[in-house]
Parts: sequence; structure tokens; C-alpha cells
Amino acid sequence: MRKLILLNHKMSLLYDEVYPYIERLNNIETENDVIVCPSNIYLEAFVNNSDFPVAAQNFHSAVDASHTGEISTDQLKSLGIEYSLVGHYERVAEFKENPSIVNEKLIAALDANIFPIVCLGENMDEDYRDVLPKLLDSYLKDIQNIQCITFAYEPIYAIDTGALPKREKIEEVIKFVKKYLEDKFGQKARILYGGSVDSSNIEEIIGIENLDGVLIGKISSDIKEVEKIISRI
Ligand code: 13P
Repeated sequence: MRKLILLNHKMSLLYDEVYPYIERLNNIETENDVIVCPSNIYLEAFVNNSDFPVAAQNFHSAVDASHTGEISTDQLKSLGIEYSLVGHYERVAEFKENPSIVNEKLIAALDANIFPIVCLGENMDEDYRDVLPKLLDSYLKDIQNIQCITFAYEPIYAIDTGALPKREKIEEVIKFVKKYLEDKFGQKARILYGGSVDSSNIEEIIGIENLDGVLIGKISSDIKEVEKIISRI
């Protein structure tokens, strides 16, 4: 089965590193799908030079221009961008994106024909069986069709910490979320795993039953790691 590998650069790369990165990325051969999510200031460079599709890391749900420092779905579309992350935990924690904001962004993305990749996860002291259904219910309020949405399970404690959950735990959560969404929408959902994925654990993670791919964070701006990871999938 083809896997989706999402490279979330977050705030990484300096301008002089961007074109060498793109050149090496373009040389990677893979049967799988790779999408790169650069920082906003490099979106145009990636769109114009990368052989792989590009996703934004975030956007504003409003359509009017009065939101200094933000970017709109129309602007993304005008650059040819068709994907965006939504509700990444770093936005939830640092920028107070509550479930209703995530819901607005999902609706704005779908209205603009942008494929959202929505992130969700629980903390170490929480039970995913309590947290994830609540998040899914509020994120997906007033949304009937989830075919265009990709879900990314990112346990909070695993983001940028090296604290990878046990493989069995990830497998259990993926199964749980898929079943929850199938029962609720009658549709099959595509689910990725994210949090401390690197070249040393990719083979173990990608072998997880029913997993559709991975969302790789900080290490994805290290092109040598990306080459290794993709060669092992
Ligand atoms: P790390 O891969 O740096 O742990 O981050 C995961 C993540 O936030 C991907 O969106």
C-alpha cells in the first residue's frame, strides 16, 4: 500500500539552505507519496522548484484581508497549494487554537478545495478513548464528508521529545480512530502517525497495521534523514 510521508519543517531552514534541500529532495525516488510543508516564507520556492506537492502549515479561516501576519486559503490556492496542516498541537498550545477554531479552519479548507491534514492527540496522563472522540466531534462539527480529510495522530508527549509510544499503542489508537470515524460517517479515514519519527524507528512504525503514513517534524528539515527515512519505507 502506498504510504503518505508528510515533512513538517515547522520553523526550520534558512534561506541559503532551501535550494540545496529542494535539489536533494527532488533526487529522491519513491513509490510513496511525499508532501512537504515548509515555512510560509519558502512556500513559493518549494511550489516553483519541488517535484513533490507542497502543503502549508497553517492558514486563517477568514476570507477578508484584515488579519495582519496571516495567510488565507485564497492566497494558498493562488500559489497552487492544495494541502494544509490544521490544528497542529503547537498551534493549539502556543496560539490557543481551540476546537472551534480548528473546526472553522477545516470548514474553510474544504470550502476552498484545500485538503486538510488535521492533527490530534492526547497527553501522557490522558486516556485517548476519552480525548480523541471529543476532539473529533468538535473538530468535525457540521462536516458530513471526511473523504478529503487526512487525520494525523500525534500524541502530545511524543512531539519533539524522542518519547515514541509503543508500536502496539499506536496500532490500537489507529484502529480506534478509524472505527470511530467509520461508525460516525460511514466512511474510511486516512490516518498518519506523527511524533519522534526518525530513520531509526521508521521501519517499525510504517509496519503498523492500517497506518496510512507518517507526519515527520523537526528532523524533516535534515535532508540526509529524509533520504534515509524514505529509502526505508
Ligand atoms: P517531531 O517529529 O519533531 O517529534 O514532531 C512531530 C510533529 O509535530 C509533526 O507535525
